[in-house]
Amino acid sequence: MNQLLETSAAYLKCAHTIVVFTGAGASSESGIATFRDALTGLWERFDAQRLATAQAFKADPSLVWGWYEWRRAQAQSVLPNPGHAAVAQLGRLVSKITIVTQNVDSLHERASSENVLHLHGSLSSPRCFECAIPMDVPDVDGYNLGYGSRIEPPVCPECGGLCRPGVVWFGESLPLDVWEAAVAAVAECDVLLSIGTSGAVYPAAALPKQALSSGAVVIHINPDRVAVSSENEISLVGKGGVILPQLLARAFN
Ligand code: OAD
Repeated sequence: MNQLLETSAAYLKCAHTIVVFTGAGASSESGIATFRDALTGLWERFDAQRLATAQAFKADPSLVWGWYEWRRAQAQSVLPNPGHAAVAQLGRLVSKITIVTQNVDSLHERASSENVLHLHGSLSSPRCFECAIPMDVPDVDGYNLGYGSRIEPPVCPECGGLCRPGVVWFGESLPLDVWEAAVAAVAECDVLLSIGTSGAVYPAAALPKQALSSGAVVIHINPDRVAVSSENEISLVGKGGVILPQLLARAFN
C-alpha cells in the first residue's frame, strides 16, 4: 500500500490537469448514506422506483418531495469531511482541476472547491416539473423528517406546476452541457482520481475508462479494492478522508 501511495503521489505531483471524480462514498464520512453499501445504502433501504423517477413523482408528489426535502435538510446539516477539504486543497496546488461529482449535496462547494460539475444535479436547485424554471424553496427543519414524511411540493408561480428536486432521476438524461464539459475535462487530464463510487451508474461510470483510453493515470480510492485492468490504473484501499490527506502530504510536502 505504501508503495502504491508513493507511486500515486508521484503521478499527482507531475500532473498539470486533474479530474477528481466523486461518488456517494466521498460524502459518507460526513454522515450521508451511500446508495449501495450493504444495510446502510439508500437503495438498500428504499425503493428507487417509488422515489427517484418522474413516474413516481407524478403518482405521489408529496412522498417524493418529502423524501428529497429530508435529504436536502440532512445535506445542509452535515459538514464537509477531510476528503472534501483535501480535494479543495488540491485545487489550490495544481494548475487545472475539474471536480466531476455524482453527488447532489454540494459538499465540495462548501469545502470551497471551485469548478464543480454536477452530473446528477443538485438538491439545492429545485425547478418546476412542468416548465422547468428554477424555484426558490425555503429551507425546511429536517429534524422530524424521514422516509414517509409527506410534504406538498411548492407550486410554480409561472405555470402552476409542482416543484421537483433538481436531481437527475432514473430514466432521465444527464444535463448535456455538464456532461460535455466533464467529457472534455477527462479527455485532457493527466490524472483522474476516482473517489467513493461503485461505478454502477452510466454514463458517469464510463469516465475512468475514458480517461485511461486518453492516456491518463486513474487512481481509485475506496475501502473496497477496485479491480484494475491497466498498468496506468491504481487502487488505493481506504476511506477518502484518510487516504486523500496522506496522498497530498506525500505529493506536495
Ligand atoms: P454507491 O452507493 O453505488 O457507491 C458508493 C461507493 O463508495 C462504494 O464503492 C463504497 O465502497 C464507497 N465508499 C464507502 N465509504 C467510502 C469512503 N469513506 N471513502 C471512499 N469510498 C467509500 O454510490 P455512487 O457510485 O455514487 O444516482 O452511485 C452512483 C449513483 O447511483 C448516484 O449518483 C445516484 C445513485 O442512484 C442518481 O441519483 C442519479
